[in-house]
Amino acid sequence: MRVLGIETSCDETGVAICDSEHGLMANALFSQVAEHAEYGGVVPELASRDHVRKLVPLLKEALAEANCTAADIDAIAYTSGPGLMGALLVGASFARSLAYGWDCRAMPVHHLEGHLLVPLLDSNDIQFPFTALLVSGGHTQLFSVRGLEEYELLGESLDDAAGEAFDKTAKLLGLPYPGGPELAKLAEAGTAGVYKFPRPMTNRPGLDFSFSGLKTFARTTIQQARLTEQQSGNEQAKADIAQAFQEAVVDTLLIKCKRAMQLTGHQQLVVAGGVGANRELRARLQTWATEANLQVAYPRIDLCTDNGAMIAYAGLRRLEAGMPTSNDLGIHARARWPLAERV
Ligand code: KG4
Ligand code: ZN
Repeated sequence: MRVLGIETSCDETGVAICDSEHGLMANALFSQVAEHAEYGGVVPELASRDHVRKLVPLLKEALAEANCTAADIDAIAYTSGPGLMGALLVGASFARSLAYGWDCRAMPVHHLEGHLLVPLLDSNDIQFPFTALLVSGGHTQLFSVRGLEEYELLGESLDDAAGEAFDKTAKLLGLPYPGGPELAKLAEAGTAGVYKFPRPMTNRPGLDFSFSGLKTFARTTIQQARLTEQQSGNEQAKADIAQAFQEAVVDTLLIKCKRAMQLTGHQQLVVAGGVGANRELRARLQTWATEANLQVAYPRIDLCTDNGAMIAYAGLRRLEAGMPTSNDLGIHARARWPLAERV
Protein backbone atom coordinates (compact mmCIF):
# COMPACT_ATOMS: atom_id res chain seq x y z
CA MET A 1 0.00 0.00 0.00
CA ARG A 2 1.14 3.53 -0.69
CA VAL A 3 -0.05 6.72 0.99
CA LEU A 4 0.54 10.35 0.10
CA GLY A 5 0.66 12.54 3.23
CA ILE A 6 -0.06 16.27 3.43
CA GLU A 7 0.86 18.45 6.41
CA THR A 8 -0.20 22.10 6.66
CA SER A 9 -1.17 22.61 10.32
CA CYS A 10 1.21 25.48 11.04
CA ASP A 11 4.20 26.96 9.22
CA GLU A 12 5.61 23.94 7.41
CA THR A 13 4.19 22.62 4.15
CA GLY A 14 4.95 18.93 3.80
CA VAL A 15 4.10 16.39 1.10
CA ALA A 16 5.46 12.86 1.47
CA ILE A 17 4.93 9.35 0.18
CA CYS A 18 5.12 6.26 2.37
CA ASP A 19 4.91 2.67 1.17
CA SER A 20 4.36 -0.62 3.07
CA GLU A 21 7.38 -2.25 1.44
CA HIS A 22 9.69 0.60 0.52
CA GLY A 23 9.18 2.83 3.55
CA LEU A 24 9.54 6.58 3.08
CA MET A 25 9.87 7.19 -0.68
CA ALA A 26 9.65 10.98 -0.74
CA ASN A 27 9.58 13.76 1.81
CA ALA A 28 9.17 17.20 0.24
CA LEU A 29 9.13 20.04 2.74
CA PHE A 30 9.02 23.82 2.73
CA SER A 31 9.53 25.77 5.93
CA GLN A 32 7.98 29.25 6.14
CA VAL A 33 10.29 30.23 9.01
CA ALA A 34 12.01 33.04 7.08
CA GLU A 35 8.67 34.61 6.16
CA HIS A 36 7.40 34.71 9.76
CA ALA A 37 10.76 35.66 11.30
CA GLU A 38 10.30 39.41 10.79
CA TYR A 39 7.05 39.25 12.84
CA GLY A 40 8.64 37.21 15.64
CA GLY A 41 6.02 34.45 15.33
CA VAL A 42 3.66 32.68 12.93
CA VAL A 43 1.15 34.97 11.18
CA PRO A 44 -1.80 32.64 10.42
CA GLU A 45 -3.02 34.43 7.28
CA LEU A 46 0.46 34.42 5.74
CA ALA A 47 0.85 30.75 6.63
CA SER A 48 -2.39 29.83 4.81
CA ARG A 49 -1.43 31.78 1.70
CA ASP A 50 1.98 30.19 1.59
CA HIS A 51 0.53 26.68 1.88
CA VAL A 52 -1.64 27.51 -1.17
CA ARG A 53 1.47 28.54 -3.10
CA LYS A 54 3.63 25.59 -2.12
CA LEU A 55 1.37 22.52 -2.22
CA VAL A 56 1.37 21.91 -5.98
CA PRO A 57 5.16 22.31 -6.44
CA LEU A 58 5.79 20.06 -3.42
CA LEU A 59 3.36 17.44 -4.73
CA LYS A 60 5.21 17.38 -8.07
CA GLU A 61 8.53 17.15 -6.24
CA ALA A 62 7.33 14.23 -4.08
CA LEU A 63 5.92 12.28 -7.02
CA ALA A 64 9.17 12.76 -8.96
CA GLU A 65 11.31 11.77 -5.95
CA ALA A 66 9.27 8.57 -5.44
CA ASN A 67 9.17 8.00 -9.19
CA CYS A 68 5.45 7.31 -9.11
CA THR A 69 2.16 8.62 -10.48
CA ALA A 70 -1.37 9.11 -9.19
CA ALA A 71 -2.19 5.52 -10.14
CA ASP A 72 0.31 4.22 -7.55
CA ILE A 73 -1.32 6.05 -4.63
CA ASP A 74 -3.90 4.15 -2.55
CA ALA A 75 -4.93 6.96 -0.23
CA ILE A 76 -4.23 10.58 0.63
CA ALA A 77 -3.74 11.33 4.32
CA TYR A 78 -3.95 14.92 5.49
CA THR A 79 -3.60 16.70 8.82
CA SER A 80 -7.11 17.57 9.88
CA GLY A 81 -6.12 19.06 13.25
CA PRO A 82 -5.15 20.41 15.66
CA GLY A 83 -3.57 23.53 14.21
CA LEU A 84 -4.31 26.89 12.61
CA MET A 85 -7.77 26.70 11.06
CA GLY A 86 -6.94 28.48 7.80
CA ALA A 87 -3.78 26.47 7.30
CA LEU A 88 -5.59 23.20 8.02
CA LEU A 89 -8.36 24.10 5.57
CA VAL A 90 -5.84 24.63 2.77
CA GLY A 91 -4.34 21.15 3.24
CA ALA A 92 -7.71 19.47 3.81
CA SER A 93 -9.31 21.03 0.70
CA PHE A 94 -6.27 20.23 -1.41
CA ALA A 95 -6.14 16.62 -0.20
CA ARG A 96 -9.86 16.07 -0.60
CA SER A 97 -9.89 17.53 -4.12
CA LEU A 98 -6.86 15.51 -5.14
CA ALA A 99 -8.45 12.31 -3.81
CA TYR A 100 -11.61 13.11 -5.76
CA GLY A 101 -9.64 13.70 -8.96
CA TRP A 102 -7.48 10.62 -8.48
CA ASP A 103 -10.41 8.49 -7.35
CA CYS A 104 -8.80 7.32 -4.13
CA ARG A 105 -9.53 7.64 -0.43
CA ALA A 106 -8.89 10.75 1.66
CA MET A 107 -7.93 10.15 5.30
CA PRO A 108 -8.05 12.82 7.99
CA VAL A 109 -5.08 12.30 10.34
CA HIS A 110 -4.51 13.74 13.81
CA HIS A 111 -1.29 15.80 13.83
CA LEU A 112 -0.19 14.42 17.19
CA GLU A 113 -0.80 10.85 16.06
CA GLY A 114 1.69 11.62 13.29
CA HIS A 115 4.27 12.86 15.83
CA LEU A 116 3.68 9.81 18.07
CA LEU A 117 3.95 7.18 15.36
CA VAL A 118 6.74 8.55 13.16
CA PRO A 119 9.54 7.22 15.44
CA LEU A 120 8.38 3.74 14.35
CA LEU A 121 9.07 4.55 10.71
CA ASP A 122 12.81 3.94 10.90
CA SER A 123 13.05 1.53 13.80
CA ASN A 124 11.95 -2.06 14.17
CA ASP A 125 13.12 -1.89 17.80
CA ILE A 126 10.19 0.20 18.96
CA GLN A 127 7.19 -1.93 19.86
CA PHE A 128 3.84 -1.19 21.47
CA PRO A 129 3.30 -0.55 24.32
CA PHE A 130 5.54 2.41 25.05
CA THR A 131 5.43 5.68 26.92
CA ALA A 132 5.67 8.80 24.78
CA LEU A 133 6.79 12.30 25.59
CA LEU A 134 5.42 14.72 23.03
CA VAL A 135 7.23 18.05 23.26
CA SER A 136 6.48 20.59 20.57
CA GLY A 137 5.70 24.26 20.17
CA GLY A 138 2.04 23.64 20.94
CA HIS A 139 2.06 20.59 23.21
CA THR A 140 3.85 19.03 26.16
CA GLN A 141 2.15 15.73 26.89
CA LEU A 142 2.92 12.29 28.25
CA PHE A 143 1.03 9.34 26.77
CA SER A 144 0.78 5.65 27.36
CA VAL A 145 0.67 4.24 23.82
CA ARG A 146 -0.70 0.71 23.78
CA GLY A 147 -1.39 0.52 20.05
CA LEU A 148 -2.90 2.42 17.17
CA GLU A 149 -5.66 4.66 18.54
CA GLU A 150 -4.86 3.50 22.06
CA TYR A 151 -3.40 6.69 23.45
CA GLU A 152 -3.93 7.39 27.13
CA LEU A 153 -3.05 10.91 28.22
CA LEU A 154 -1.04 10.69 31.46
CA GLY A 155 -0.21 14.37 31.93
CA GLU A 156 0.17 17.63 30.04
CA SER A 157 1.15 21.24 30.36
CA LEU A 158 -1.46 23.35 32.09
CA ASP A 159 -0.21 26.49 30.33
CA ASP A 160 2.69 27.04 27.89
CA ALA A 161 4.19 24.13 25.97
CA ALA A 162 7.93 23.50 26.46
CA GLY A 163 8.71 24.69 22.90
CA GLU A 164 6.64 27.82 23.46
CA ALA A 165 8.62 28.57 26.65
CA PHE A 166 11.87 28.07 24.68
CA ASP A 167 10.64 30.42 21.96
CA LYS A 168 9.39 33.13 24.35
CA THR A 169 12.54 33.06 26.49
CA ALA A 170 14.68 33.20 23.36
CA LYS A 171 12.76 36.29 22.27
CA LEU A 172 13.43 37.91 25.66
CA LEU A 173 17.13 37.19 25.10
CA GLY A 174 16.92 38.95 21.73
CA LEU A 175 17.42 35.76 19.70
CA PRO A 176 15.84 35.38 16.24
CA TYR A 177 12.68 33.36 15.62
CA PRO A 178 12.18 30.42 16.00
CA GLY A 179 14.03 30.71 19.26
CA GLY A 180 14.16 27.11 20.53
CA PRO A 181 17.17 25.92 18.51
CA GLU A 182 18.87 29.34 18.85
CA LEU A 183 18.55 29.27 22.63
CA ALA A 184 19.87 25.70 22.70
CA LYS A 185 22.91 26.82 20.68
CA LEU A 186 23.56 29.78 22.99
CA ALA A 187 23.19 27.55 26.07
CA GLU A 188 26.23 25.53 24.96
CA ALA A 189 28.41 28.57 25.72
CA GLY A 190 26.80 29.08 29.16
CA THR A 191 28.35 28.23 32.50
CA ALA A 192 26.30 25.97 34.75
CA GLY A 193 25.41 27.23 38.22
CA VAL A 194 25.59 30.99 37.57
CA TYR A 195 21.79 31.22 37.50
CA LYS A 196 19.32 28.80 39.06
CA PHE A 197 15.82 28.42 37.62
CA PRO A 198 12.95 26.56 39.36
CA ARG A 199 11.72 23.08 38.31
CA PRO A 200 7.97 23.80 38.14
CA MET A 201 5.49 21.27 39.54
CA THR A 202 8.14 18.67 40.32
CA ASN A 203 7.66 18.81 44.08
CA ARG A 204 4.07 17.66 43.90
CA PRO A 205 2.73 14.37 42.61
CA GLY A 206 1.34 13.89 39.13
CA LEU A 207 2.47 14.16 35.55
CA ASP A 208 1.26 17.61 34.58
CA PHE A 209 3.63 20.41 33.60
CA SER A 210 3.65 24.19 33.81
CA PHE A 211 6.17 26.25 31.88
CA SER A 212 4.77 29.79 31.90
CA GLY A 213 6.42 30.49 35.29
CA LEU A 214 9.83 29.72 33.80
CA LYS A 215 9.29 32.33 31.13
CA THR A 216 8.36 34.90 33.81
CA PHE A 217 11.39 33.86 35.84
CA ALA A 218 13.53 34.36 32.74
CA ARG A 219 12.07 37.84 32.20
CA THR A 220 12.86 38.88 35.79
CA THR A 221 16.35 37.40 35.61
CA ILE A 222 17.07 39.20 32.34
CA GLN A 223 15.81 42.49 33.77
CA GLN A 224 17.88 42.09 36.92
CA ALA A 225 20.95 41.29 34.84
CA ARG A 226 20.23 44.45 32.80
CA LEU A 227 20.18 42.56 29.54
CA THR A 228 17.21 44.26 27.93
CA GLU A 229 17.60 45.13 24.27
CA GLN A 230 18.37 48.82 24.98
CA GLN A 231 21.23 47.97 27.33
CA SER A 232 23.24 46.06 24.78
CA GLY A 233 24.03 42.63 25.99
CA ASN A 234 26.66 40.92 27.95
CA GLU A 235 26.90 37.80 25.79
CA GLN A 236 28.27 35.57 28.52
CA ALA A 237 25.42 36.46 30.91
CA LYS A 238 22.90 35.72 28.16
CA ALA A 239 24.51 32.35 27.54
CA ASP A 240 24.49 31.61 31.30
CA ILE A 241 20.75 32.41 31.47
CA ALA A 242 20.06 30.27 28.39
CA GLN A 243 22.00 27.41 30.00
CA ALA A 244 20.06 27.69 33.29
CA PHE A 245 16.71 27.92 31.49
CA GLN A 246 17.41 24.92 29.27
CA GLU A 247 18.64 22.89 32.24
CA ALA A 248 15.44 23.66 34.16
CA VAL A 249 13.22 22.57 31.25
CA VAL A 250 15.26 19.42 30.62
CA ASP A 251 15.35 18.51 34.35
CA THR A 252 11.59 18.99 34.62
CA LEU A 253 10.91 16.83 31.56
CA LEU A 254 13.29 14.16 32.85
CA ILE A 255 11.68 14.03 36.31
CA LYS A 256 8.21 13.59 34.79
CA CYS A 257 9.42 10.99 32.27
CA LYS A 258 10.90 8.93 35.09
CA ARG A 259 7.61 9.13 36.96
CA ALA A 260 5.61 8.19 33.89
CA MET A 261 7.81 5.16 33.20
CA GLN A 262 7.38 4.01 36.81
CA LEU A 263 3.63 4.33 36.44
CA THR A 264 3.33 2.50 33.12
CA GLY A 265 6.07 -0.07 33.71
CA HIS A 266 7.00 0.22 30.02
CA GLN A 267 10.54 -0.50 28.85
CA GLN A 268 10.57 2.12 26.11
CA LEU A 269 10.23 5.88 26.12
CA VAL A 270 9.63 7.50 22.74
CA VAL A 271 10.30 11.22 22.45
CA ALA A 272 8.55 13.10 19.65
CA GLY A 273 7.96 16.70 18.56
CA GLY A 274 10.24 19.64 17.80
CA VAL A 275 11.85 19.95 21.25
CA GLY A 276 12.84 16.29 20.86
CA ALA A 277 15.62 17.64 18.65
CA ASN A 278 17.21 19.29 21.72
CA ARG A 279 20.63 17.77 22.25
CA GLU A 280 20.78 18.35 25.98
CA LEU A 281 17.40 16.65 26.45
CA ARG A 282 18.55 13.69 24.36
CA ALA A 283 21.83 13.35 26.26
CA ARG A 284 20.21 13.53 29.71
CA LEU A 285 17.45 11.07 28.81
CA GLN A 286 20.02 8.69 27.33
CA THR A 287 22.19 8.73 30.45
CA TRP A 288 19.21 8.00 32.66
CA ALA A 289 17.83 5.28 30.37
CA THR A 290 21.18 3.49 30.26
CA GLU A 291 21.42 3.55 34.07
CA ALA A 292 17.82 2.40 34.47
CA ASN A 293 18.20 -0.29 31.80
CA LEU A 294 15.43 1.23 29.72
CA GLN A 295 15.33 2.28 26.09
CA VAL A 296 14.74 5.77 24.79
CA ALA A 297 13.98 6.32 21.12
CA TYR A 298 13.52 9.32 18.83
CA PRO A 299 12.54 9.90 15.27
CA ARG A 300 15.47 11.02 13.18
CA ILE A 301 16.21 14.69 13.69
CA ASP A 302 14.54 15.93 10.48
CA LEU A 303 11.29 14.14 11.41
CA CYS A 304 11.08 15.72 14.91
CA THR A 305 9.64 18.97 13.61
CA ASP A 306 6.51 19.08 11.43
CA ASN A 307 6.70 17.22 8.12
CA GLY A 308 4.57 15.31 5.61
CA ALA A 309 6.28 11.97 6.33
CA MET A 310 4.64 11.65 9.75
CA ILE A 311 1.19 12.15 8.23
CA ALA A 312 1.85 9.74 5.35
CA TYR A 313 3.17 7.15 7.83
CA ALA A 314 0.26 7.51 10.29
CA GLY A 315 -2.14 7.24 7.33
CA LEU A 316 -0.36 4.12 6.09
CA ARG A 317 -0.50 2.47 9.53
CA ARG A 318 -4.22 3.25 9.77
CA LEU A 319 -4.85 1.90 6.28
CA GLU A 320 -2.86 -1.29 6.93
CA ALA A 321 -4.77 -1.82 10.18
CA GLY A 322 -8.06 -1.55 8.29
CA MET A 323 -9.19 1.51 10.22
CA PRO A 324 -12.14 3.38 8.81
CA THR A 325 -11.28 6.05 6.27
CA SER A 326 -13.93 8.65 5.72
CA ASN A 327 -14.65 8.53 2.03
CA ASP A 328 -17.29 11.20 2.17
CA LEU A 329 -16.64 14.43 0.34
CA GLY A 330 -16.31 16.34 3.61
CA ILE A 331 -13.33 18.57 4.27
CA HIS A 332 -12.42 17.85 7.87
CA ALA A 333 -10.52 20.43 9.90
CA ARG A 334 -10.49 20.99 13.68
CA ALA A 335 -8.34 23.69 15.23
CA ARG A 336 -8.69 22.12 18.68
CA TRP A 337 -8.82 18.38 18.87
CA PRO A 338 -7.61 16.39 21.90
CA LEU A 339 -5.93 13.17 20.75
CA ALA A 340 -7.88 11.18 23.35
CA GLU A 341 -11.08 12.04 21.43
CA ARG A 342 -9.72 10.10 18.49
CA VAL A 343 -10.25 6.89 20.47
O1 KG4 B 1 6.77 19.85 16.50
P1 KG4 B 1 7.07 21.22 16.00
O2 KG4 B 1 7.80 21.37 14.69
O3 KG4 B 1 5.80 22.10 15.81
C1 KG4 B 1 4.66 22.01 16.56
O4 KG4 B 1 3.82 21.11 16.25
O5 KG4 B 1 4.60 22.80 17.51
O6 KG4 B 1 7.90 21.95 17.18
C2 KG4 B 1 8.39 23.25 17.05
C3 KG4 B 1 8.98 23.67 18.40
C4 KG4 B 1 9.35 25.15 18.45
O7 KG4 B 1 8.87 25.69 19.67
C5 KG4 B 1 10.88 25.12 18.40
O8 KG4 B 1 11.47 26.23 19.02
C6 KG4 B 1 11.17 23.85 19.18
O9 KG4 B 1 10.18 22.94 18.70
N1 KG4 B 1 12.52 23.34 18.91
C7 KG4 B 1 13.48 23.25 19.86
C8 KG4 B 1 14.64 22.73 19.22
N2 KG4 B 1 14.33 22.52 17.90
C9 KG4 B 1 13.02 22.88 17.74
N3 KG4 B 1 13.46 23.57 21.16
C10 KG4 B 1 14.59 23.36 21.86
N4 KG4 B 1 15.74 22.89 21.33
C11 KG4 B 1 15.82 22.56 20.02
N5 KG4 B 1 16.95 22.08 19.51
ZN1 ZN C 1 3.90 19.39 15.35
